[in-house]
Amino acid sequence: MAEIKLENVNKAFKDTVVIRDMYLTIADGEFFTFLGPSGCGKSTILNMITGLEPVTGGNIYFDSITVNDLSPKERDAAMVFQNYALYPHMTVYENIAFPLRMKKIDKETILEEVKKVAAILGLEELLHRKPKELSGGQRQRVALGRAIVRKPKVFLMDEPLSNLDARLRIEMRAELKRLHRELKTTVVYVTHDQAEAMSLSERIAVLKMGEIQQCATPLEIYTKPVNTFVAGFIGSPSMNFFEADVLSKKPLRAGCNNRVFEPEASTTPDADTLLFGIRPENITVSSEEKTNTEAIVELIELESSIVWIDMRWKETRIKGKASIDESISVGDRVFLKMPNEKIHVFDIETGRRL
Ligand SMILES: Nc1ncnc2c1ncn2[C@@H]1O[C@H](COP(=O)(O)OP(=O)(O)OP(=O)(O)O)[C@@H](O)[C@H]1O
Ligand SMILES: [Mg+2]
Repeated sequence: MAEIKLENVNKAFKDTVVIRDMYLTIADGEFFTFLGPSGCGKSTILNMITGLEPVTGGNIYFDSITVNDLSPKERDAAMVFQNYALYPHMTVYENIAFPLRMKKIDKETILEEVKKVAAILGLEELLHRKPKELSGGQRQRVALGRAIVRKPKVFLMDEPLSNLDARLRIEMRAELKRLHRELKTTVVYVTHDQAEAMSLSERIAVLKMGEIQQCATPLEIYTKPVNTFVAGFIGSPSMNFFEADVLSKKPLRAGCNNRVFEPEASTTPDADTLLFGIRPENITVSSEEKTNTEAIVELIELESSIVWIDMRWKETRIKGKASIDESISVGDRVFLKMPNEKIHVFDIETGRRL
């Protein structure tokens, strides 16, 4: 078990800076996720923590000891990759036992340890099979087993579920959560899938081009995104954004399409125009229940019991949610409820939350 600290960590490949001045402490036993779009530097950070890539500047600590000059082996972090690369000629048993055999541990102990891990992962019945005789999810569990059996200080996982189909991915999420609860080992996880990050993590660092935008709990990031990048990246479907003209600064009142909003903001704006954000799940659409905000339906999407509705609200494109019981068709005139307390207020120039 270990606390991991990044202190002013920088990484450049030749002249290209990939990670910039990163400060971060991951608590002992925490499930911590780096989340961000492709190319933002997630794998690079993980590779620096595990020791596969040297840092260009700064320090990485495991429990207040600098590990900069330690090899991956000496750091004692187990990496689980996206393509889990099992040994194809070995059985499940031999694959899981492999790291212990490398450590020259005696046969009886290996048998005992592999059985324990197989029980945790529900692999007992599959120990004699070869990887090609397993499903994707089962292979992923074997890869996890091979990491767990080492009892490392830290688990580092780089998009470990991305090769699985949607249903398996959700099953494995639950498995990983349970595993973390049982083992209580620090997990540093990397994904570009915001839903996966939200459901697994105790804390998330949202990255953009090698810089942490926000580091907080999933709830905090969802309810109080610090800027428009985080606001747009977290949540599905994505947050709606529209411009609003300031009518009064204190208390804040601002309007769009003749509709006046009185949202909460912790800072008084300087500008006369703001950017407002509201999540589609916070806009209730109805064809019957009249409000003073009207829109025309452009597209309807059914997602289990939710109906997502794309609309044109005067010149503004906006997405909202209707109950499955509402009979709404394309071209209909509908009424929107957009509660003030669900409006996020951003500076239009910097994109920062006010
Ligand atoms: N060995 C390398 N040499 C030069 N540039 C590299 C090298 N490895 C990564 N990069 C660059 O560094 C940036 C970050 O790459 P990284 O693999 O960390 O991104 P990522 O967030 O893991 O992306 P993805 O979600 O696609 O896996 C990218 O622009 C990439 O092209
Ligand atoms: Mg990557």
